[in-house]
Amino acid sequence: MPESRKIVIDTDPGQDDAVAILVALASPELEVLGITAVAGNVPLTLTEKNARKICELAGRPEVKVFAGATHPMVRSLVTAENVHGKTGLNGPELPEPEMALQAQHAVDFILETLMREESGSVTLCALGPLTNIALALEREPKIVPRIREIVLMGGGFFEGGNVTPAAEFNIHVDPHAADVVLRAGIPTVMIPLDCTHKALTTSKRVEAFRKLGTRPGVATAEMLEFFERFDENKYGTDGGPLHDPCVIAYLLKPELFSGRHINVTVEIASELTMGMTVADWWGVCDRPKNVTYMRDVDHEGLFGLLVERIGRL
Ligand code: BDR
Ligand code: CA
Repeated sequence: MPESRKIVIDTDPGQDDAVAILVALASPELEVLGITAVAGNVPLTLTEKNARKICELAGRPEVKVFAGATHPMVRSLVTAENVHGKTGLNGPELPEPEMALQAQHAVDFILETLMREESGSVTLCALGPLTNIALALEREPKIVPRIREIVLMGGGFFEGGNVTPAAEFNIHVDPHAADVVLRAGIPTVMIPLDCTHKALTTSKRVEAFRKLGTRPGVATAEMLEFFERFDENKYGTDGGPLHDPCVIAYLLKPELFSGRHINVTVEIASELTMGMTVADWWGVCDRPKNVTYMRDVDHEGLFGLLVERIGRL
């Protein structure tokens, strides 16, 4: 088997983050160097604890989990308990984690890892607001050429926003961080709502996780059942969009996704459209192309992959 790809998962779990982490930990093609938590769906004290709960659910208590930024770079923190529940991981009963949180700050871990590992070998997977990654870039710009790629869930253009009419949650929570990341000159793959809104957790798909009959399989079904309620009501669909696992699925099977290399610029001035990701899909401006913007996903293939991987745990 070819050498596994080294990744750092930056995340704010969140049920969909949790499924992404489970799939990554189940995949031998990926080596998870560490999980860095950021404030987002819920405050940092909960996101770092949730990350540890998920490592234990995967039977991987040795994975290193770090806590990072407690709040966005400029704006006040906005959370999403209305979607994810009070703990951020409502749905299954998961025990308090026994594994310890690492003492090192997430931003220091990101910097140290990128400076230590072979240049161009580490991929950053961003599943939440981009605060930790932007802080690392600001602190040490030398990491820029050392990053293999950033694959992030965030933004949306054709679908509009999910937290304001114009903005998607991860980018809206810390638009200044997203702006730093998208202007850094790092190869970046962006998986926006235009893509994830096609990846619905239909009842048949949730059942497929439950039928695995394992703790991770059943807990995934329970997480998704809780998580999808909000979006089912909002959009009137069978199931809700499963955002963050798309990032890990892209690393495993990029052929499931299609998009274009374009310019994406983040709105950081207007309050009305704060955090909007202005995607130049038609190439009408001369701003430099900075992002591979995914607009479509083979959703049957995606869920087939996710169920198969969680079945390995
Ligand atoms: C994103 O926001 C969060 O609520 C989800 O975990 C996902 O990362 C979707 O807009
Ligand atoms: Ca997330």
